[in-house]
Amino acid sequence: MVIGGSSGLGRALAERLARAGHSLVLVSSDLRDTQALAADLALRWGVQAVPMALDLAQSPLPLAALDAALAAMPPLTGLLLAAGMNREGDEPGQAPASFAALTCANYTNLCHLVDHFLPRLRREPRSWIVGFGSVAATRGRTRNAAYSAAKRALQSYFESLRHFLAGSGVKVQFYVLGYLDTNLAFGQRTLLPRASPQRLADAVYRRKDSDFGVSYYPRFWYPVCALLRQLPWTVFRRLSF
Ligand SMILES: NC(=O)c1ccc[n+]([C@@H]2O[C@H](COP(=O)([O-])OP(=O)(O)OC[C@H]3O[C@@H](n4cnc5c(N)ncnc54)[C@H](OP(=O)(O)O)[C@@H]3O)[C@@H](O)[C@H]2O)c1
Repeated sequence: MVIGGSSGLGRALAERLARAGHSLVLVSSDLRDTQALAADLALRWGVQAVPMALDLAQSPLPLAALDAALAAMPPLTGLLLAAGMNREGDEPGQAPASFAALTCANYTNLCHLVDHFLPRLRREPRSWIVGFGSVAATRGRTRNAAYSAAKRALQSYFESLRHFLAGSGVKVQFYVLGYLDTNLAFGQRTLLPRASPQRLADAVYRRKDSDFGVSYYPRFWYPVCALLRQLPWTVFRRLSF
């Protein structure tokens, strides 16, 4: 199941998984995108691909339709949480509805999805849960305030999840991502190059059985983020990025 499977990284993951012969459930808020992609993947790779609409910004999340879709499919062995939502004006002082939507779509509802599907994933001898964070969460800035806080919280939840599932057949992985060449970063001025979502999807698939916990992608972000974390406040507060 690819959450956020209609564009960017999620779409690239769906392509990669279909190419490897996996049945798929593709979830996004706009059914038209996942419908077209699912039909295309089914045709090209001969896999079962089911499009589903779900707005992650709403609460509580209605999950009955996803359960019904899964009932007609092979057992669930992977949950890839590639959805991400940011918006202009995500700064301290924003309206509660905007804050709630960003928190639900980037954190709470992703955790609810994990919790909901955990019993199924644990029943399988080998399964896989992947979360995606952002280097934007390394230090809190004026911009992307709720998005970054949600991503940092998601990373902490994934560490708890990995701890909880240690020694089980469920691999828990979390990628901290730098800029990607996708809609989410469209029009943004980026200090460092953007990574290809297809190459990232290949790397994610290649490492699916590895118990690494957290990984930065591209890897040069690891030392960059380590440096950012060490910057004294007097320097950090002057940076505008
Ligand atoms: N792009 C970057 O530079 C960057 C940097 C760091 C981290 N990331 C993270 O990398 C992951 C992939 O991002 P991306 O660049 O591939 O983004 P993207 O191209 O904008 O795709 C985002 C996906 O999430 C879905 N989505 C967004 N809001 C949703 C909602 N409310 N309900 C249901 N689905 C929703 C979108 O579907 P709909 O359009 O149908 O809503 C789409 O499938 C995200 O977790 C993102 O936070 C991205």
